[in-house]
Amino acid sequence: MILEYPNKQSKENIVKAAKMFKPIEYDSKHSYLYFGDNFSVLSSLLNYNSNTIDLIYIDPPFFTNNDFYISKDRANTISSSKLDREKAYSDKFNRNDYFNFLRKRLILLRELLSEQGSLYIHIDYKIGHYIKILLDEIFGVDCFKNDITRIKSNPKNFARKAYGNIKDMILFYVKNNNNYIWNEIKQYTLDNIDKKFPKVDSEGRRYTTVPCHAPGETMAGKTNSLWQGLYPPKGRHWRMDISELEKLNNNGLIEWSRTGNPRIIKYADEYKGSKIQDVWLDYKDPQYPLYPTHKNEDMLDMIIKQSSNKDSLLLDCFAGSGSFLNAAYKNERYFIGIDNSDIAIKTIKSRDIGNYCFIDYNSINNNDNIKVNNG
Ligand SMILES: C[S@@+](CC[C@H](N)C(=O)[O-])C[C@H]1O[C@@H](n2cnc3c(N)ncnc32)[C@H](O)[C@@H]1O
Repeated sequence: MILEYPNKQSKENIVKAAKMFKPIEYDSKHSYLYFGDNFSVLSSLLNYNSNTIDLIYIDPPFFTNNDFYISKDRANTISSSKLDREKAYSDKFNRNDYFNFLRKRLILLRELLSEQGSLYIHIDYKIGHYIKILLDEIFGVDCFKNDITRIKSNPKNFARKAYGNIKDMILFYVKNNNNYIWNEIKQYTLDNIDKKFPKVDSEGRRYTTVPCHAPGETMAGKTNSLWQGLYPPKGRHWRMDISELEKLNNNGLIEWSRTGNPRIIKYADEYKGSKIQDVWLDYKDPQYPLYPTHKNEDMLDMIIKQSSNKDSLLLDCFAGSGSFLNAAYKNERYFIGIDNSDIAIKTIKSRDIGNYCFIDYNSINNNDNIKVNNG
């Protein structure tokens, strides 16, 4: 399935336009910040080298038809006094232009990804479903991994006749479905540990128990066999091979109730966290943002730990406050940041994000006669 819209540019023309930009050198063991239009910068990077970036996170304009301002004391979106604010960036597009704008950048971004690379794109519920179709076309449906719901704010009392909106979405794609960086980062919290592990054994260790069986019947085999004189209850199967259950039992890790019901013991001091699911509740946006639409940096930190390695090269070509660049630096990754707003660049430069090479792309263009094109 393909998204068609008037004036959709062909991939060939996009690639041809990108080829007209002069290559700019970079390597995967340095960090860079570019001030300039990201189509031009991405083209120049790509013309120097492809397949270099392990993780891309982008949070582009969402087609909101708004301008985004920053005021002297605090970044916000629309409401600050007109006298006391400067425009950080504009998100005003015609719909088809917006699709062209984003699609051509996504095409280049895929080429820049390494063979084990991933892309996360932050988008909202109004436009995100169209972007999903564009991404399926560019990356292939097999390379789609998740549509993550991120709770972005506390409930609001909207005046309009509809449900309040407290979520946005993050689409996660990989370049190569058979081989991508995935570090199985777990969600670990010490909150509610007493609730999670309510029992205490004779040695004072906190623990809980979980059933030995799980929903779904297996017709034959070792998860449906007789174990300790029991079959799994109707409609269920043993959670593991019965030889594994037997090992747990021999090691004192099965608790038997008075009525003969076995449950597996899980100790709090061996708890390594739980699998992260696709609804993210704990990553609301900062109360005091450095920049409009400044994203939660703990969320970016987790994405980086999950989908890149130490020393990987990461990229955010809609860098804004530099939130992703900061999280990359804190995690000992290298980064490429791009933004065409001087306020964004000023904000990024004011942060402690280690050593990086700053390049004013427009000025190298002027000196070096590179074709300038605003994408
Ligand atoms: C939604 S904000 C990103 C916010 C960022 N994720 C953060 O946490 O601070 C989008 C950014 O994209 C930048 N931008 C928009 N169009 C661009 C373009 N063509 N080239 C480079 N940057 C662009 C804007 O200046 C803005 O800073």
